[in-house]
Amino acid sequence: MFAKVVAVSLLTLASGQLLAAECKVTVDSTDQMSYNTKEITIDKSCKTFTVELTHSGSLPKNVMGHNWVLSKEADTQAIATDGIAAGIDKSYLKDGDTRVIAHTKIIGAGEKDSVTFDVSKLKADEQYNFFCTFPGHISMMKGTVTLK
Ligand code: CO
Repeated sequence: MFAKVVAVSLLTLASGQLLAAECKVTVDSTDQMSYNTKEITIDKSCKTFTVELTHSGSLPKNVMGHNWVLSKEADTQAIATDGIAAGIDKSYLKDGDTRVIAHTKIIGAGEKDSVTFDVSKLKADEQYNFFCTFPGHISMMKGTVTLK
């Protein structure tokens, strides 16, 4: 009897997990100055969302470094421009830049970094981008983030 109750509970748990939204994504970056995705959709049911950034290339971070930065579309270019002077040790982000909603550090080949942020910081009617602030990369390394 006890075993049967446990089995039913486990089944319920498993189906609940299948229905739950995925609140995590892995984004890969490359030696070709690119991400493997142009669009990230975040489900409104997620309390937090985690992005894991990987780098599948072979070049080091001082040559082909990448980060993953999230901001409103309207702030994207200015964040990247202001980040150039900050240098690689600051992951090409200006100190205390409040326009940045979330970001990883700059990584090179074979490295990874992840960031988790509160989904309550995003609004469904706002346009968001993710992008790389390594100098010159934003033209190739930019995509959209949508809350749905
Ligand atoms: Co980059």
